[in-house]
Parts: sequence; C-alpha cells; structure tokens
Amino acid sequence: MRATWHGHACFEIAGEKRILIDPFLRGNPTADIGPGDVHPDILLITHGHEDHLGDAVEIARRAKPKVACIHEISVYLGEEGIEAEGMNFYGTLDLGGVLVTMVPAWHSSSHAGRYMGTAAGFVIEMDGRRIYHAGDTGLFSDMKLIGELFKPDLFLVPIGDRYTLSPALAARAVELVSPRVAIPMHFGTFPVLVKEATEFRELVEAKGKTKAVILRPGESYEL
Ligand code: NI
Ligand code: MN
Repeated sequence: MRATWHGHACFEIAGEKRILIDPFLRGNPTADIGPGDVHPDILLITHGHEDHLGDAVEIARRAKPKVACIHEISVYLGEEGIEAEGMNFYGTLDLGGVLVTMVPAWHSSSHAGRYMGTAAGFVIEMDGRRIYHAGDTGLFSDMKLIGELFKPDLFLVPIGDRYTLSPALAARAVELVSPRVAIPMHFGTFPVLVKEATEFRELVEAKGKTKAVILRPGESYEL
C-alpha cells in the first residue's frame, strides 16, 4: 500500500482501492497536482473548512467515488447533487472491503458560514493495514484509546500549530497513538503555519518507538 502526500492534509492511499482524503488542491500553493488529476474510488472529508473540503464537490461529480463524511456534510453534498454516506463518531462503514471508522477530532467545522457538524478523523483499514488520518485537531487523551482500539500502522498528524497541534504536541499525540510510522501534515502551506517538520521528527525519534517520515508534496511512503 502506498500513501502519497499532495500537500496540506490531502493524502492518496493506494491499495486494493484508491482513497483520497481532504482534496484541497486548486487553492493550495503547495499541491503537486490539480483536482483533474485524481481518480479516487473512495473520497473522505474530515471537516468543512475550505482547506479540507477543497475540491471535493468537483472531484465527486467527475470521478463518482464513494464519499464518506459526517452527517451534516453529507446533507450539504446532497444539495450539491452528490450522494454521500453520512456517519458519525466510532461508526464504521464497509466501502467495498475497505473499512472506514470515523473518530473524533478536537476542532471546529463550517463552510461559508454554515454549520458542518463536528470535525473528524478517520481510521482506514485496507489490505490488512490501518491508517489513522487525524484531520485538523488539537490534543485529546482519547487518542490513546484510538491507538489501543485500532493499532494504526500509519498515523497522519497535523503539526502546523495555530489551528492544529504544534510539532511538540503532535509528538505527544504520536506517543498516545503509538503507530509504527508517523507522517506530519498541515505545515508549510501558508506563512502562519510551522514551516518545517524537522523538530517533530527529532522529538518522535527521540522516543525510539515510532519512525517519523517527512514527505514533500508528491512523495509517497510504501507501507
Ligand atoms: Ni480546519
Ligand atoms: Mn485545516
């Protein structure tokens, strides 16, 4: 299975199915591709903020993936003519053999002033591997529970500070989740965010339990 970072919180996970998460591409100065370049089977949206919902409507209309998101976003997408699977915390959906569980994220969620439910993260199980995409979040102690319940192989964690975890708190989140590998995201996109992930990597690797892998947009990690 291969995880490719397209900048910010957008990842493509390719295995038995192609999964796209948080496709913020057109407005993202660091994205390596555009919304016309992706052909997902499954599209996951963590919350309604523009840097996550991004080009989801356009991609869903063209590629017709199965879409999963929190109930309120599924209602919004329905109004846009997109059939989406609504769900909520700790519910699991079987999307053609890929198991998607929605988990909490400590963050807000809106789109153009409209309430979009609560922000979320996802645990994805495909090809015998589990990936935890934390979405936008601060630190919360249930990350330990998510780690115990799902034993993620790969943890995709925001480190940019201000709107999400800082590098130091993201390293603390990695301790709670205890994955094999952690990849930082949500940094370097805009001037207000942390620019580099080196501090995060040093803090994580000092603990000696999890491997920290820093990707550049367009780069992949094989797991
Ligand atoms: Ni957000
Ligand atoms: Mn964000």
